[in-house]
Amino acid sequence: MKRVLSGLQPSGRLHLGNYCGAIKQFIRLQDNHEMFVFVASYHALTSSRNAAQLRADTRQVVIDYLAFGLDPAKTNVYLQQDVPQVCELTWLLSCVCPKHMMDKATSFKDKTARGLPASIGLYTYPILQAADILAVDPDLVPVGEDQRQHIEITRDLAQKFNHHFAPGSADDPSKAVFKIPDAMIRADSGATVPGVDGQKMSKSYNNGIDPFMDEKPLRKRVMKIVADSTPIDQPKDAGRDTTFQIFSAIAGSEDERTKDLRDKYANPPSDGFGYGHAKQALFELILDEFGEARKRRVELMNDPGYVEQVLKDGAAAAVARVAEVTARARAAAGL
Ligand code: ADP
Ligand code: TRP
Repeated sequence: MKRVLSGLQPSGRLHLGNYCGAIKQFIRLQDNHEMFVFVASYHALTSSRNAAQLRADTRQVVIDYLAFGLDPAKTNVYLQQDVPQVCELTWLLSCVCPKHMMDKATSFKDKTARGLPASIGLYTYPILQAADILAVDPDLVPVGEDQRQHIEITRDLAQKFNHHFAPGSADDPSKAVFKIPDAMIRADSGATVPGVDGQKMSKSYNNGIDPFMDEKPLRKRVMKIVADSTPIDQPKDAGRDTTFQIFSAIAGSEDERTKDLRDKYANPPSDGFGYGHAKQALFELILDEFGEARKRRVELMNDPGYVEQVLKDGAAAAVARVAEVTARARAAAGL
């Protein structure tokens, strides 16, 4: 059975981009893969300066994972902070990471340009991410398009470490310290979901749609999505419209509902089809797709003991796996 690892930062409320780009894939994979899915709380410290907020956001991501449909019977769900060995692995990998590799990483430039403090933690963020990944020997890492570079860095660092400390591993992978994982990125419209302003949906751009919002504010949020000014009786280009792109990311580009909507854009019915109609269709799709999840989320919020137990079991499974990999890496490096 192939092993899968992925995680999300608890840096605010999750949104449809996180669901379509990442969580939806975790749920699909959990039936026939060995799963490790965690909450990247150490990573969130690159931006958080508020302990109570971080604690609350971390807990909320776990609840949202479970509400969306991660099943603890199939997926080990844990907090990064409960597996502190990843910090040791980060150090081992830092020592084989050429500085220019971090200089080239785009996320540091993007995040500092947006005003995040240019800390060393933010600068070396991809090395911590590589440690998260390599720590459990996964085959696959499902993520959104924006994480592609981080997975490439992970592969490079694993190869460098193997090159220095695992002689012969280039010819015989069984001699390697770290397994080289593959990124798994949706090839369709789910890979980068736009936000209400048409830019990439992101927690830090305040352009997200949170499917767990109450109905009224949720509808208001959906109605805020940008649109051009094509009149309602004119054909519209679905591929260029943000509402359509979000709809397609949730329902799937080949889904009947998406095809039906695409058709209405191209051939408006005689009484017209405007962006307001498309937004209403998206609002209804969200309620429909996430109806179960919304109910489950309320139940989970009222059952902290259950959530605690899930995290305890998840951490135990992760620590066992990580201990093996860490021991291998330490020994190979001469510690
Ligand atoms: P954010 O940009 O909102 O802070 P994260 O960086 O925490 O999101 O991303 C968590 C996961 O969700 C990653 O796998 C990322 O690729 C995915 N993701 C984030 N935003 C989007 C988006 N707009 N479209 C598709 N996937 C996304
Ligand atoms: N950097 C990822 C993000 O912003 C979160 C993350 C941290 C992650 N460690 C990971 C994702 C390991 C996949 C695997 O979304």
